Amino acid sequence: MLEIKVAPSILAGDFARMGETVRMLEQNGADYIHCDVMDGNFVPPITFGAQMVEQIRPYTKLPLDCHLMVLRPDTRLEAFAQAGADIVSVHVEECRDRIVQTLRAIRNHGMKAGAVINPDTPVEQLYDCAEAADMLLLMSVHPGWGGQKFIPSTLEKIEKLRSFLVRSGRGELDIEVDGGITEENVRDVISAGANVIVAGSAVFRSADMRATIQRLRGV
Ligand code: DX5
Ligand code: ZN
Repeated sequence: MLEIKVAPSILAGDFARMGETVRMLEQNGADYIHCDVMDGNFVPPITFGAQMVEQIRPYTKLPLDCHLMVLRPDTRLEAFAQAGADIVSVHVEECRDRIVQTLRAIRNHGMKAGAVINPDTPVEQLYDCAEAADMLLLMSVHPGWGGQKFIPSTLEKIEKLRSFLVRSGRGELDIEVDGGITEENVRDVISAGANVIVAGSAVFRSADMRATIQRLRGV
């Protein structure tokens, strides 16, 4: 049975007080801190880089789960490793035929490696990543912004990916889903086969963060 992990996204957090924000997330039961790195090129917005990861590192013991929405992520790995990142996920759409070697490079930097695909990318494009990855990430919104609506066709991609992994003997591999997840739709996401839940708005707009994080585990 896969452990369900909740990874609040700090994109929805307070950029002026990010240290206290991640400390609060840990105190309220989060499993990972999801860090949405955007370079203004792969996606239009700019958020933050490795320096933010370095600055929040001392405030939490939780794994820092860095989602690189950047061009040439292979050139950023050293900086994120130095900053204390635990997981780095890179986009298949950007890495293309370099995706497996990029995943290997992430591991060579002592971090766990994730491969990400956007909503319009067929799930089959993740299949070749499975052997070099520690986590596979399905975007359930178009990357760049928080607060968007969950794209329902993601559920079928999760099911296809989980059954592919089970068939190929990697049934225990983490599948992370990212974008538009709420207490209302999380059970569908988990029953489809995902076990790492990213949520930004749903966590930060909650009146009871601890209860929301608990409910995002599908309980
Ligand atoms: C979007 C990011 C997501 C987003 C999730 O590009 O990758 O992690 O911050 O935020 P919500 O949960 O508000 O959709
Ligand atoms: Zn993300």
